[in-house]
Amino acid sequence: MYDFKDKVVFITGGSRGIGRAMAVKFAELNAKVVITYKSRIDHRFFKPKKIHYFKCDSADAKRVKEVVQNVVKKFKKIDVLINNAGITKDTLIMRMSEKDWDSVIDTNLKGTFFFCKEVARNMVKNHKGKIINVSSIVGVNGNAGQANYSASKAGQIGLTKTLAKELGSHNIQVNVVAPGFVETDMTSVLSDDMKKAILKTTKKKAAKPGKVADFVAFLASEDSDLINGQTFIVEAIQMRQEERLYF
Ligand SMILES: NC(=O)c1ccc[n+]([C@@H]2O[C@H](COP(=O)([O-])OP(=O)(O)OC[C@H]3O[C@@H](n4cnc5c(N)ncnc54)[C@H](OP(=O)(O)O)[C@@H]3O)[C@@H](O)[C@H]2O)c1
Repeated sequence: MYDFKDKVVFITGGSRGIGRAMAVKFAELNAKVVITYKSRIDHRFFKPKKIHYFKCDSADAKRVKEVVQNVVKKFKKIDVLINNAGITKDTLIMRMSEKDWDSVIDTNLKGTFFFCKEVARNMVKNHKGKIINVSSIVGVNGNAGQANYSASKAGQIGLTKTLAKELGSHNIQVNVVAPGFVETDMTSVLSDDMKKAILKTTKKKAAKPGKVADFVAFLASEDSDLINGQTFIVEAIQMRQEERLYF
């Protein structure tokens, strides 16, 4: 069990899904947790947990700078940055509009760039930090119908590898977690048939957001100090019938 007492953990897109599971996890591990959201926040859920929140569109460079400055002013530092905010606008390439391309790239990739840039200044000053970028297995493998999303997620991996080189000498580790299928609002829009087809072909199960949060807690901890510039696929594997007999 890790203890993040006195650590400030900043999570983008923490109001729902994987981000929310991470916010709860880090709050349970005694961190000071700050999250961002774009559209709405459930005050009654976050307030009692003492999780701080800011409305901040990740694609808005001016607002990102303002929010990071506010957080640093209030807490003096940011120990862990988790770039989690993300959207999908899926369709085949021939039907994909420039607007849908831009909005996915702007939120998922440009947003990651904006936050890394602003938070890195504080981490370099403190000679310490962890940045975890939440990409996707689709950024590693590609996926039909997700040209914009897979490009944004692959872009996060390239950005991470470069930042690991630029910031590593300042004792800042930058890594990627690339989840497979996770049960959240993002995947709830898929039809049951589509979900079944994806999980059958990949031989994977839908994972709970909390499982991704568990791994991210490791990457944010001092136990991962020797890991930099790496991409970790995290997904739930379907057990075959015969293997079930032994467990
Ligand atoms: N679910 C999966 O199977 C899966 C698999 C691989 C990777 N991922 C990645 O994991 C991350 C989280 O996904 P999820 O499934 O938890 O998604 P989700 O349930 O749809 O939640 C997305 C979160 O991001 C926030 N957000 C979206 N656009 C934003 C913006 N422009 N600025 C700030 N916040 C914004 C949302 O806040 P609002 O409600 O205010 O918009 C929400 O808190 C994403 O990067 C996604 O690509 C998910």
